[in-house]
Amino acid sequence: MDFKGKVAVVTGAASGIGRSVALAFAKLGTDVAIADIDDAGLKNVRKEIESLKRRVIAVHCDVSKDDDVNNLAKQAILTLGKVDILMNNAGVGVRGYLERVTMADWQWTVGINLFGVIRGVHAFLPHMLQRGSGYIINTGSAGGLIASEPPELAPTNIPYITSKHGVTGFSEAIYGYLRPKGIMVSLLCPGMVDTKIGDNSRYVGSNREVSEMKGGGESLFSAPGVMSPDDLAQMLIKGMNENKFLIITHQEIMDALTARGQNMKKLEEHLQETFKNKV
Ligand SMILES: NC(=O)c1ccc[n+]([C@@H]2O[C@H](COP(=O)([O-])OP(=O)(O)OC[C@H]3O[C@@H](n4cnc5c(N)ncnc54)[C@H](O)[C@@H]3O)[C@@H](O)[C@H]2O)c1
Repeated sequence: MDFKGKVAVVTGAASGIGRSVALAFAKLGTDVAIADIDDAGLKNVRKEIESLKRRVIAVHCDVSKDDDVNNLAKQAILTLGKVDILMNNAGVGVRGYLERVTMADWQWTVGINLFGVIRGVHAFLPHMLQRGSGYIINTGSAGGLIASEPPELAPTNIPYITSKHGVTGFSEAIYGYLRPKGIMVSLLCPGMVDTKIGDNSRYVGSNREVSEMKGGGESLFSAPGVMSPDDLAQMLIKGMNENKFLIITHQEIMDALTARGQNMKKLEEHLQETFKNKV
């Protein structure tokens, strides 16, 4: 894929994966609209992209709000002339045991992680359909493929996992619909990446529970060996160049998916065998 002369929009671009991807696109010659609710972070990333001599606009955009996302589409198209790549990346988590999570927490997580992605597609789709081309990247998660991943987080990460499973289903469904119309879709499914997501998450529960979830002060996301967002950005670009729908960053996720496939086969065989004379 030739990134030179393209225009990309990246949400959640003030930090972590979004920032690294926006910079990686800019280094390849792409102009970028960066969007986030963190204005100070956006300002820094805008300066970094300007120093690469690319056109950049920074738009305050809360992806949980229809008007903000529609405004982002309008600003990007007006100022940069077109949008070739849309990365729906902004995401948050609520950490806490199921009985502690309020409906407001559910709405916050799903409103950003799943509806934020849907909103992005809804706002930019008319432009892409009109041009008969475009590339949509949705940031899902390993937790959006396997509900028990990673095992040390999953039991206190249920709203996040649920919302990311929605992103998986939505992305696969729109791939089939949009690919014949000239619009490519990729689902980026990272494992653990060293970003601020742990700090940007909400924590609910007793002080002891919260302290345990936060790893007693040692962030799970910055433990030794955790992937850097810059390395992840390079994997995304490789996946885009290879026209991949599913961009999985960690081998252990692939292994877990394969094992689950085998288990599903065994479950199916078991059910068939058990019920063959009973229905
Ligand atoms: N870090 C990981 O281990 C990991 C793993 C799998 C998936 N992801 C996904 O990657 C994406 C990026 O997260 P990250 O790890 O870079 O975290 P991060 O917290 O460093 O960056 C997320 C960015 O999204 C922004 N944001 C939050 N709410 C927003 C809203 N309502 N509207 C617009 N922007 C908003 C934040 O201000 C922040 O700049 C998320 O979708 C996350 O779920 C991260």
